[in-house]
Amino acid sequence: MDQNKNMVKPITQFACSDCGMTYKKWTGRCDGCGAWNSIQEEVPLSQGPSKKSLGTMKGKRMALTDLTTEETPPQRTLSGLSELDRVLGGGLVPSSATLVGGDPGIGKSTLLLQAAAAFANAGHSVVYVSGEEATAQVRMRAQRLGLGESSVKLAAETNLRDILTTLEAEKPDLCIIDSIQTMWVDTVDSAPGSVSQVRASAHELTTFAKRFGTSVILVGHVTKDGQIAGPRVVEHMVDTVLYFEGERGHQFRILRAVKNRFGPADEIGVFEMTGMGLAEVTNPSALFLGDRDAPAPGSVVFAGIEGTRPLLVEIQALVAPSQLSQPRRAVVGWDGSRLSMILAVLEARTGISFQGLDVYLNVAGGIRISEPAADLAVACALLSAREDASIPPETVVFGELSLSGALRPVSQAENRLKEAAKLGFTAAMAPKGCKTGDAGGMSLRLLPDLITLVGEVFGAG
Ligand code: TYD
Ligand code: MG
Repeated sequence: MDQNKNMVKPITQFACSDCGMTYKKWTGRCDGCGAWNSIQEEVPLSQGPSKKSLGTMKGKRMALTDLTTEETPPQRTLSGLSELDRVLGGGLVPSSATLVGGDPGIGKSTLLLQAAAAFANAGHSVVYVSGEEATAQVRMRAQRLGLGESSVKLAAETNLRDILTTLEAEKPDLCIIDSIQTMWVDTVDSAPGSVSQVRASAHELTTFAKRFGTSVILVGHVTKDGQIAGPRVVEHMVDTVLYFEGERGHQFRILRAVKNRFGPADEIGVFEMTGMGLAEVTNPSALFLGDRDAPAPGSVVFAGIEGTRPLLVEIQALVAPSQLSQPRRAVVGWDGSRLSMILAVLEARTGISFQGLDVYLNVAGGIRISEPAADLAVACALLSAREDASIPPETVVFGELSLSGALRPVSQAENRLKEAAKLGFTAAMAPKGCKTGDAGGMSLRLLPDLITLVGEVFGAG
């Protein structure tokens, strides 16, 4: 039978190299993300045999199995970098593919070189393939980091066929590809970094990981708006997606799990960039509260939870008369629309208005928080700035605010309180109904709603 007759001729299509949106025709501007000149022609993956043949030509019968098994689950590999191990969900899983994304220059290569050395020192075979730097450059960096003696095997290569051939021969436990945007597959006819190349490379490497039991870590650059450049598709192909992020002007870096098939997806690891590479920060609360100013109006300490770990941060608000017809609402480190919501709830439920006032809100230290449990701390910071009354020092605050002005209990209250007690705080404000346990010996003020907060704490109403 002539198989070729059944093959569908691949249709040329166009894709945006920033967001991956596909088009039938070339256009100058992507409708998906608004980028100019980012649409590139790409040869699609083979579409396989046509529909008719799938019905008439039988495939192989697959063996189906059930879920019961005698096999022990695969051992996770611990690197010894405990911040990294925790974000991975308790170590690296064999046969897994992990994507580490981040802005250029944030420290991805540094982190992964240190991780490579840590895994190698723990007795695993590690191959580090750099598509961006020459081996001499990687070696120099390793020496500067004091890792010159570790048994990591290096290569500077971008041709994926050569890389896979080498990996099949070496069968390492871990392979790091830095970066996926520099890799090219010779069967795909477009430039490295294009959507089709990145997708094909990621597909080859994840397939390799599953077949040979190697853990593969891919490095990916992220565009300014936080998307992994070109290949959002890669996020779907890998088991774990980690983002490495940090603020310019701050020394700390955060490794955040945004997708994890083998562990929790909201875990963070905190590192500090030093002259000797990345150092682990095992007590991040102390780091973020380290240079706290004396208690002042508008400053409140929020007892948060990031992943499984409590994290204390300072929330600062400033309220000033506005010269503008539409007063300013500026937020750093928190969600702007959530701030508008809290201002609206304050106005509607307590009658305290922020009309004609500029409002600035800042999470100190440069970390970003997304927990709704920060609502009460934000409300306290705003009220404290507006009323020019400071919250008693050594007090932490947490709780979620509902639109009715009621305070809603939040999870892990006991952990939050224990962490605060450990750092020398003696009092806490939280919603009524929180499971506080023994509260770590702190004095508690449990509030049912905003009116009570305003009346009791700020003496207004
Ligand atoms: P790098 O790992 O090359 O970033 P990426 O791979 O994400 O592009 O990190 C580069 C930055 O890290 C650079 O600005 C210098 C800084 N750095 C240090 O501060 N200390 C160090 O020991 C190293 C190796 C890098
Ligand atoms: Mg790099």
